[in-house]
Amino acid sequence: MSLKKSQIKVLVACEFSGIVREAFRKRGFNAWSCDLLPAEDESPYYYQCDVRDILDDGWNLMIAHPLCTYLCNSGVRWLHERLERWKKLDEAIDFFLELLNASIPHICIENPIPHKYAREKIGKPTQYIQPYEFGEYVSKKRDCG
Ligand SMILES: C[S@@+](CC[C@H](N)C(=O)[O-])C[C@H]1O[C@@H](n2cnc3c(N)ncnc32)[C@H](O)[C@@H]1O
Repeated sequence: MSLKKSQIKVLVACEFSGIVREAFRKRGFNAWSCDLLPAEDESPYYYQCDVRDILDDGWNLMIAHPLCTYLCNSGVRWLHERLERWKKLDEAIDFFLELLNASIPHICIENPIPHKYAREKIGKPTQYIQPYEFGEYVSKKRDCG
């Protein structure tokens, strides 16, 4: 059965700016976003809560932007200088995997390049997006791993 756009429930997880949510809403989707922080645009299409509490609410698509602080390659050196970060890394991996394995038919998780300790658990990225592919003058990805 095919759904009309307005029947497609989109969850933009870990987003308080509303930028991705509003891009979907402008195109007619039933899009909502969720973050622990208040919505920057004071939108009614917003859940201020732990996203894990609403993952089972019948979404058709989720785009998530989880914190990358402990997962990203650019911060890997700190794991060896601040040993307490290994526990935070485990928590970040658990959170990432909970989003990835949510019972939602279509899932996209956006993050910077992960380091090798994160990749061992969350897997390799399946797609790289560069700002210059969308009209910007900068490149983000430095590692092809
Ligand atoms: C890297 S920021 C992404 C911001 C996003 N790109 C935006 O435009 O608003 C990660 C966000 O994840 C949120 N976050 C962290 N843990 C969360 C959770 N359990 N449930 C919902 N949001 C969470 C943080 O509050 C933070 O705003």
